[in-house]
Amino acid sequence: MKCIEVKLKDKSYPLHIEKGIFNKIGTEIKKIYKNDIISIVTDTNLDRIYGEKLVKLLQAEGYIVSKIVVPAGEKSKSIETLTEVYKELLESGIHRGDLIIAFGGGVVGDLTGFAASTLFRGISFVQIPTSLLAQIDSSIGGKVAVDLKEGKNLVGSFYHPESVYIDSELLKTLEDKFLYDGMAEVIKYGAIKDEQLFNKLFNFKNKEDLLENIDEIIYNCCSIKRDVVEIDEKDIGERMLLNFGHTIGHAIEKYFNYEKYTHGEAVAAGMYLITKNSEDLGITEKGTADLIYKMLIKYNLPVTVPQTDAKALLDIVSLDKKNIAGSLNIVLIKKIGDSFIKKIERKDAGQYLARR
Ligand code: GLY
Repeated sequence: MKCIEVKLKDKSYPLHIEKGIFNKIGTEIKKIYKNDIISIVTDTNLDRIYGEKLVKLLQAEGYIVSKIVVPAGEKSKSIETLTEVYKELLESGIHRGDLIIAFGGGVVGDLTGFAASTLFRGISFVQIPTSLLAQIDSSIGGKVAVDLKEGKNLVGSFYHPESVYIDSELLKTLEDKFLYDGMAEVIKYGAIKDEQLFNKLFNFKNKEDLLENIDEIIYNCCSIKRDVVEIDEKDIGERMLLNFGHTIGHAIEKYFNYEKYTHGEAVAAGMYLITKNSEDLGITEKGTADLIYKMLIKYNLPVTVPQTDAKALLDIVSLDKKNIAGSLNIVLIKKIGDSFIKKIERKDAGQYLARR
């Protein structure tokens, strides 16, 4: 087992990375949680495959277990589903000193984390992330939230889990589309912070080769995320680097109503476009955009999106809650592994963010 400790001002917690750790999750939880009641929150897809097993593994350790199953998909990250989760948590008889388990991808993790952070002003929770994106990004760092009709993640908080259990065996049941969705964020880590990781990704021969080495990749990414979050837990400086490709990516997701592109796919197109533009502006070393292009193609990710109205995308960027008072922070790379934040005026956004 590999273990990464996230050490923050007010809380520290471990990320356990081990193939097969899910099979002994009952004994792992027993090491950190001494009360009786556990509520699992998961989605319909995962429940079908793993729900019964997870309940049995916990019951075998003497826990009283209830399970809340939300519909699979982004739409569950809503106030309506959150209300349903609160209701079912209360019905389960959970109290402040008990434990909630988020078993799922980013949607379940964010929704459950937010429910845990707010019900009774905070109940402990652990994350068992099941998608690559959740295993390397969303389960780490304490960002929990639900969406509003007006936009994504608009209601949220920083609330860290007690522990994160990362089992790459769970990725075997993940649709290829979502494996590559997660790979976009892996590529992002390489692009912003780790040239060696980026180069490693070029060398995998196929999906099988990638999956054979995935624990090392997960460890690499989690270490980078840990380092960034330890420096800037509240996302006011260094952590913004994790948003490389995301300004355009979020706009693309919204433009297509969160239906056509996954988060990773939209970010992929965003990383290429912003790097192509910054290379043309002489900020980024020549050839960098081409490296990103080749990498995205290798992992079945889009490098461009059809039929976007550049002005509409820029309008969406301007409305984003992070882009305050006429200026916005964007993330650029000088070369692979070397990123920085640039504050730009909204009037100049087109130079960096629009397709030319
Ligand atoms: N996923 C970006 C962050 O955690 O800050």
